[in-house]
Amino acid sequence: KKRIWLSRHGESQFNVQDKIGGDADLSPRGELYANTLPTLISKHIGDDYPLTALDELDTGVCDGMTYDEIAEKFPDDFLQRDQDKFNYRYRGGESYRDLVLRLEPVIMELEQHEKILIVAHQATIRCLYAYFMNLDHEQLPYARVPLHTLIELTPTAYHCEENYYKVDI
Ligand code: G3H
Repeated sequence: KKRIWLSRHGESQFNVQDKIGGDADLSPRGELYANTLPTLISKHIGDDYPLTALDELDTGVCDGMTYDEIAEKFPDDFLQRDQDKFNYRYRGGESYRDLVLRLEPVIMELEQHEKILIVAHQATIRCLYAYFMNLDHEQLPYARVPLHTLIELTPTAYHCEENYYKVDI
C-alpha cells in the first residue's frame, strides 16, 4: 500500500536558540538523530529500498582494501578488472553489470520525477550518470564523478546537458 514517510532534519542550532529560518548547522542532538536515521529507516521502512538499492558497488572480499593491496593479494583479478572493468565481478561481490541491474528500479523511479536529488556512492552515481549520458559499457566504469561536486544533468530531446558545481573545500 502507498505510504509516505517524512522526517524533519535533526535539531539545528536555530532550533536550540528558538530562532526561525533555516540552514543552520545541526546541534549535537541533531547530529545524533542524523546518525540514527539510517537505523530508524531500516526498522520502519525496510532495508530493500532505497537504502540498499543505492549501495556502493559491493567489492566483496576486497572491501576496505587499496588497489595496491588488491594487486598484491589477487593479481589475476586485478588484471582481469583492468581488462574488462564493466563485467569484472569482485569475489563475493558485484560487477558494474550487476550494479546496473540493481539500479533499474531506481532509474524507473527517477524517470517519474521532474526534479530529484540523489546522494550516493561513486560507482552508483556512475551507473545513473551513464544512463542519462548514454555511456557505453566501456565508458561507464571510468566516468568522472569528483568529490564535493554537485552534478546537474538536464536531459533535452537529443542529448543531456551537464553542469558541475564544485565546492572548494
Ligand atoms: O569503492 C568503489 C568505488 O567507488 C569504485 O571505484 O570502480 O573505479 O574502483 P572503481
